[in-house]
Amino acid sequence: MTDMLRAPAEVKFAEELDWLESIDDSPKPFSWRLSPKMIRLFILGSERADGLDREISQKWFGDRSFVERSIVTLASDRGLLLIGDPGTGKSWLAELLAAAISRNSTLVVQGTAGTTEDHIKYSWNVSMVIAKGQSRASMIPSPIMTAMEKGVIGRFEELTRSTSDVQDALISILSEKYVSIPELDDDNIVFAQPGFSIIATANSRDRGVNDLSSALKRRFNFVRIPVVTNKKSEAEIVRFRTTELLRRHQIELDVPPNLLDILLQSFADLRAASASATSDDEKLESALSTAEQIGVLEDAILHSTFFGDRQLRAETLAGSLVGSLARRSPEDLAILNKYWHGVVEPRSKEDGGEWPAFLEGGRAAIATLS
Ligand SMILES: Nc1ncnc2c1ncn2[C@@H]1O[C@H](COP(=O)(O)OP(=O)(O)OP(=O)(O)O)[C@@H](O)[C@H]1O
Ligand SMILES: [Mg+2]
Repeated sequence: MTDMLRAPAEVKFAEELDWLESIDDSPKPFSWRLSPKMIRLFILGSERADGLDREISQKWFGDRSFVERSIVTLASDRGLLLIGDPGTGKSWLAELLAAAISRNSTLVVQGTAGTTEDHIKYSWNVSMVIAKGQSRASMIPSPIMTAMEKGVIGRFEELTRSTSDVQDALISILSEKYVSIPELDDDNIVFAQPGFSIIATANSRDRGVNDLSSALKRRFNFVRIPVVTNKKSEAEIVRFRTTELLRRHQIELDVPPNLLDILLQSFADLRAASASATSDDEKLESALSTAEQIGVLEDAILHSTFFGDRQLRAETLAGSLVGSLARRSPEDLAILNKYWHGVVEPRSKEDGGEWPAFLEGGRAAIATLS
C-alpha cells in the first residue's frame, strides 16, 4: 500500500472490495460498484451463515437497519443525512458507504460558516481566465460537481454548520440534478450522471446554528445514529480502532482486557452521571462518545510507548482519561473529582484488581490539574 498518514477506506480495503466485486452477481443500482447486499456485507462484516470462502471484517458497529436504510436512500433520488452526537461514527459510515458504492470516498466538502456556494458548485482558475478567457477548461469544479459528472457519491460533512445560501444551492442540486454555469455561452450545464447522490452528516449538538430549511429536509432521508451504549459493541469498536493505531505506529503492546473493562466501565458510569445531572455545570462538557474513549486509550498507549516501559498501566490510563475529559476548570475537574471519590474509591476497595492503581493515577492527575 502507498504511504499515507490515513488511507481512505477504498484504498485501505481495496483487496476486500475487489474480492466482493468479483463474487457479486446481484443487480446493482445505476453505476454502483457493488450490489446493496454486498455493501451491507462490506460494512457490517461476514458471519458464518453467509457461507463465504473468506472472512470480511466488520468496520462499522451499529444496528443493521441503519445501514440498510442508508443504502436504500442512496438508491432513491433523495440524499442521505446521517445525524447524531459527536463521535458516533457518522463520518466513518459515510466514508464506508461511498467507498463501497463508488470506490471514491474523497469527494468531500466540509461545511463551516465560511463555506460558500463556490465550494459546492465551481470556481475559476483566475490566471487561466485572464490568459484564455472563461471556458470549461478554466473552471474548477467542486468535489460535489465532480461527483455529479462522474455519477458517484459526493459527501458533505457538517451540513448544519453551513449558511442558508449554501443549503439553498444544495436544494437545487438535489432536485434538478444539474448545475448551470451562466458565465459560459455554450456547454454551460453540468448534468449529474446516474449514481450521483450526496451523503451529508450533521452533529445533533450543532442544531439550531443553522436550522435546516424544510425544503432541504424534504430532499434528504434522515438516519439518526445513536451513541453506542452496548458495552460489547463498544468494546469491539475500541479494540478495532486500537489495533489499527498500534499497527500504524508499529507498536507492540498488549492492551490488557481488564484495563479495557475499566475504561468502558468508567465511561458508562460518567454517562449515567451526566444523564442524571440537572444543570450543565454538573455535566461533563464531553459527549463521552466512543470516539473519545478511543482517544483516551490512544493517548495512554502512546504515553506508555514514548515515556513508559511499553506496558499499559492503570495509572497511565487514568491520567489520560482525566486529561482528556477535564476541559473546563473548575466544572469538569469537580465532576471528575466527585466521580473518583464517590465511585472509583469504593470500587477499588470492593473489586481490587487494577482499580486501586486506577484510583491513584486519577487522583494524582486531578491534583496536578486543580
Ligand atoms: N459505530 C462505530 N463503528 C465503528 N467505528 C466507530 C463507531 N463509532 C465511532 N467510531 C470510531 O470513532 C471515530 C470517530 O468517528 P466519526 O469521526 O465517524 O464520528 P462522527 O459521528 O462523524 O463525529 P462528529 O460529529 O464529531 O464529526 C472514528 O475513528 C470511528 O472509526
Ligand atoms: Mg464527523
